[in-house]
Amino acid sequence: MASTTFNASSSLPATLKGLDCNTYKPTLGNLRFIASPNKKPIAVPSSSSPAPKRRVLPLARATSDVPVKTGLSDAECEAAVAAGNVPEAPPVPPTPLAPAGTPVVPSLPLSRRPRRNRRSPALRAAFQETTISPANFVYPLFIHEGEEDTPIGAMPGCYRLGWRHGLLEEVAKARDVGVNSIVLFPKVPDALKTPTGDEAYNENGLVPRTIRLLKDKFPGLVIYTDVALDPYSSDGHDGIVREDGVIMNDETVHQLCKQAVAQARAGADVVSPSDMMDGRVGAIRDALDDAGFQHVLIMSYTAKYASSFYGPFREALDSNPRFGDKKTYQMNPANYREAMVEVHEDESEGADILLVKPGLPYLDIIRQIRDNSALPIAAYQVSGEYSMIKAGGMLKMIDEEKVMMESLLCLRRAGADIILTYFALQAARCLCGKKR
Ligand code: PBG
Repeated sequence: MASTTFNASSSLPATLKGLDCNTYKPTLGNLRFIASPNKKPIAVPSSSSPAPKRRVLPLARATSDVPVKTGLSDAECEAAVAAGNVPEAPPVPPTPLAPAGTPVVPSLPLSRRPRRNRRSPALRAAFQETTISPANFVYPLFIHEGEEDTPIGAMPGCYRLGWRHGLLEEVAKARDVGVNSIVLFPKVPDALKTPTGDEAYNENGLVPRTIRLLKDKFPGLVIYTDVALDPYSSDGHDGIVREDGVIMNDETVHQLCKQAVAQARAGADVVSPSDMMDGRVGAIRDALDDAGFQHVLIMSYTAKYASSFYGPFREALDSNPRFGDKKTYQMNPANYREAMVEVHEDESEGADILLVKPGLPYLDIIRQIRDNSALPIAAYQVSGEYSMIKAGGMLKMIDEEKVMMESLLCLRRAGADIILTYFALQAARCLCGKKR
């Protein structure tokens, strides 16, 4: 099966240009993104004389230039050439001119000139090491009980979607461009929040209800869920808070197991503990297996850092901790080796996917885990990363689309198999050449 190369820019020869969405098959996982090869011409300091007119070298000749056949046999053609009667071919092209004032220097005696492999779009495409496709994306979606979609101020382009209306439209749009995986984040009514977060395992709560609806409408959709108490906790923490402020580990894990089983029962494909309690992966695995959900995957937030990049997300769900911070369970951003402690735990407890979060500021952690584990790796490009790129784009300080694609490609290069990103739909549209 031929792989298909996608390029948002128009500078590639037609044969290398991507297919459009009409020919694009969302089920194929072999689409590749190539960082745009077109660079602005660099200005050379000009001498006083006006710049000479550039010769435009033709890229390809029209097929009408093909000479008419004479009907000669191979032997006759060879004999003609041997007799000195050589047919015409284009002359060797003239050496392109350098601008006036260019210094004349002997060429450097280099045995290796890495620029040779970057000379043309076709060469660059041939040697591209990392690829990216809509199949690599998991689209995080915020849901609420309302019927309208509510814009999220700190995340331009993101909404709290009505679970029976806006959500279904958004999922359909994503599937249209090959994004077939989503992860759900609920905005839970304050009246349902308690210190022990029991709404998290209500079988008819917002998340289980939504999963059943989605599975009914889109049976092939891969549904990831978040396992943590924060959207359900009146304290805004991922676990149960003791009166002295301590986040209780084992009691929280007990709740998380019930939450994961409720999600699996509703039809979740992948449950994703993001709470960072110790021992939760093994406990959730046992609970799922006991309930008959041996086939449900666990994507563990293995290295989740106590990061300020989560700010816009907490606004989206109104889930800021009521007091304190999450530093007794989420990791210290200063720590690298500690990620391997978490990897060993999650691997031995049966995690199917290891996740690193945030994404771009933590590429070294992704690479470390890629080099030390055989399990698939997920990177979470979190809300703050998304909002910074959006804000920079809206202020016209950066090219939003190019920075978006580059950031995603870099997460892949660092070693991520899949990427949770609020850009999933926009980036997938870009990959299949569809403008918004
Ligand atoms: C909570 C959770 C958080 C995110 C995903 N799950 C926030 C937090 O830990 O406070 C953040 C995602 C983002 O910022 O995009 N369990």
